[in-house]
Amino acid sequence: MSETATLAPPSPLADRLLRMTEPATIAMAKKARELAAQGVDVINLSFGEPDFPTPQYIKDAAKKALDDGYTLYTPVAGIPELRQAICDKFRRENQLDFQPNQIVVSTGAKQALANAVLSLVNPGDEVVVFSPYWVSYSEMVKLAGGITVELLGTLENDYKVTATQLETAITERTKLIMYSSPCNPTGAVFSREELGEIAAVLARHPQVFALADEIYEYINFVGEHVSLAQFAEIAERVVTVNGFSKGYAMTGWRLGYLAARQDIAAACEKFQSQITSGTNSIAQRAGVAALQGGRASADEMVTAYRRRRDLVLEVARTIPGLQTPTPSGAFYVFPDVSAFLGRTAPDGRSIVTATDLALYLLADAHVAAVAGDAFGAPRCVRFSTAAADDKLVEAFRRIKASLGKLS
Ligand SMILES: Cc1ncc(COP(=O)(O)O)c(C=O)c1O
Repeated sequence: MSETATLAPPSPLADRLLRMTEPATIAMAKKARELAAQGVDVINLSFGEPDFPTPQYIKDAAKKALDDGYTLYTPVAGIPELRQAICDKFRRENQLDFQPNQIVVSTGAKQALANAVLSLVNPGDEVVVFSPYWVSYSEMVKLAGGITVELLGTLENDYKVTATQLETAITERTKLIMYSSPCNPTGAVFSREELGEIAAVLARHPQVFALADEIYEYINFVGEHVSLAQFAEIAERVVTVNGFSKGYAMTGWRLGYLAARQDIAAACEKFQSQITSGTNSIAQRAGVAALQGGRASADEMVTAYRRRRDLVLEVARTIPGLQTPTPSGAFYVFPDVSAFLGRTAPDGRSIVTATDLALYLLADAHVAAVAGDAFGAPRCVRFSTAAADDKLVEAFRRIKASLGKLS
């Protein structure tokens, strides 16, 4: 046999795909489902999804949209009524002044983020990603050919990156910074003062743009939500992303949006026009109703998320070695698990990484969580608190027992 005949055929897939990874959140959810299918009582805390139904008034608006015949293509950037409702929301809740031609409605905030990254980042550009970060940021940067520069916030500062850290990370090749506040996975919320300091750094670097992911805006336990675009000196360089998935429990509807300087919004619209066109027409009509209803339905959910956070922290803080900062928003706790790395499970398996620990917790406690590696924080594990109170208490009781068995 010739030498070439023994070689595996080259993958037919494009290089960009071979460089991409599947989100760890989705991979863990899959493992949890497989175990549950075998009859195991798995408590799945790997999801980044509200466990509430979409409010009835939004569902009613969708049914009406269908009956009224809103079933055809829409303008790429979204129906005028929704873009106007988004402008009204920004003015009312964020004191931000946008015109409808600065808004692009997308298939989830995920597409809005991808639109912005792919419209702004050239191959070789550096993108400073505040870390821990949401899993898809670094993959989107990779897809654009950019270079992710991870900037890790410290546990002492609730994992929040400081302006001083940012200053040291910016080079002449930096094009963009990306962060979420409230943050997935840490639940940290930037204060006005902290964002003001970050804005001051950006003001000194006019080539740097910012992507502010505000998808968890409504799930905030400290009160004030601050948008980076509120800082006038840099507002022109901020792309603000938001959506309906978390605040209105509408993950399956796939509805998000961005607001930006008109030329950037037009670029994002152009990009989207070649990939997906306007998002679902019925979801867009429902989105108008959602925004017109304000945030009352979100406030009810937030009461539950806060109570659950407190329940979880109460148990988590009794687990020796687990260092769990208090989340100020979103629906996750993100403890540092360093104290358990390097230990051995009762069955002899070594717990070297946070992924080993997450897999051990799934096998022993039957609790699914996501290792911090995927979020740029390899010494942490993310647990969702978007589950029923009794499930959360039971999950952390089991976690405590399983961690107690490590030697
Ligand atoms: C920080 C962050 N940004 C964006 C998204 C995407 O949201 P959407 O469902 O609107 O695409 C998520 C979803 O988990 C998220 O956690």
